[in-house]
Amino acid sequence: MTLLARNACSLLSRRGLASAAASAPKATTPRLKTFKIYRWNPDKPAEKPQLKAYEVDLNNCGPMILDALLKIKNEQDATLTFRRSCREGICGSCAMNIGGRNTLACLCKIDQDESKQTKIYPLPHMYIVKDLVPDLTNFYQQYKSIKPYLHRKDFPADGKEILQSIDDRKKLDGLYECILCACCSTSCPSYWWNQEEYLGPAVLMQAYRWLIDSRDQATKMRQEMLENSMSLYRCHTIMNCTKTCPKGLNPGRSIAEIKKQLAF
Ligand code: SF4
Ligand code: SF4
Ligand code: FES
Repeated sequence: MTLLARNACSLLSRRGLASAAASAPKATTPRLKTFKIYRWNPDKPAEKPQLKAYEVDLNNCGPMILDALLKIKNEQDATLTFRRSCREGICGSCAMNIGGRNTLACLCKIDQDESKQTKIYPLPHMYIVKDLVPDLTNFYQQYKSIKPYLHRKDFPADGKEILQSIDDRKKLDGLYECILCACCSTSCPSYWWNQEEYLGPAVLMQAYRWLIDSRDQATKMRQEMLENSMSLYRCHTIMNCTKTCPKGLNPGRSIAEIKKQLAF
């Protein structure tokens, strides 16, 4: 080997060693954080629900609560049960009570203070299917009951779209974005106590969404459905619903608007 070739070889091997050293995982101190998670198994009905503690190293975990839950399920306890799908605040399925607040696990950042435990429960005052999965059957039936789709008696003669002015379309902003996660309804004390009859903020906001849609022709029918003492008027404007909505919507305001519409 010539001197030039030997020098080039040694330079390459030095570079190789340097880059290997740079890419080698650094020895970091684990940042262990405790997550206490509600567990209940319907296959063992005699066993009471319990909070089970799991430690997660924050150095190797994504930033959101859903990342921690997935890490626990994948690496520590495959029996841990929760819903999730989109992991970006669109499907509404990862709604749960985290640190005392109803929110979406995929939009909720992990508190990076390892000295503080994070407690995770299912949405409150609901029947539980398993662990963090609430039974939403009643919630969806209530949504179905408001007929959440366009009602028309007549259609444009040309068979084309039913047009809407820009101003009328704007009235739907802040309403159509609801992902039906149920965080608001399950934070509402009136819904906790009367959920068989009171429709709750999420469903009432959707009822309002159709009441003010300029293309809908069933306003009277929709108003009559709400004209009773339970469906709407159990709302006492406590506003927990608006405070907790992870999409920044205002169901409390929609309920107030329906009451105004019915009164005048
Ligand atoms: S209003 Fe907000 S909290 Fe309520 S269901 Fe819709 S997105 Fe969820
Ligand atoms: S404003 Fe009405 S719907 Fe919202 S939390 Fe209060 S009582 Fe429930
Ligand atoms: S996983 Fe879809 S909203 Fe969180």
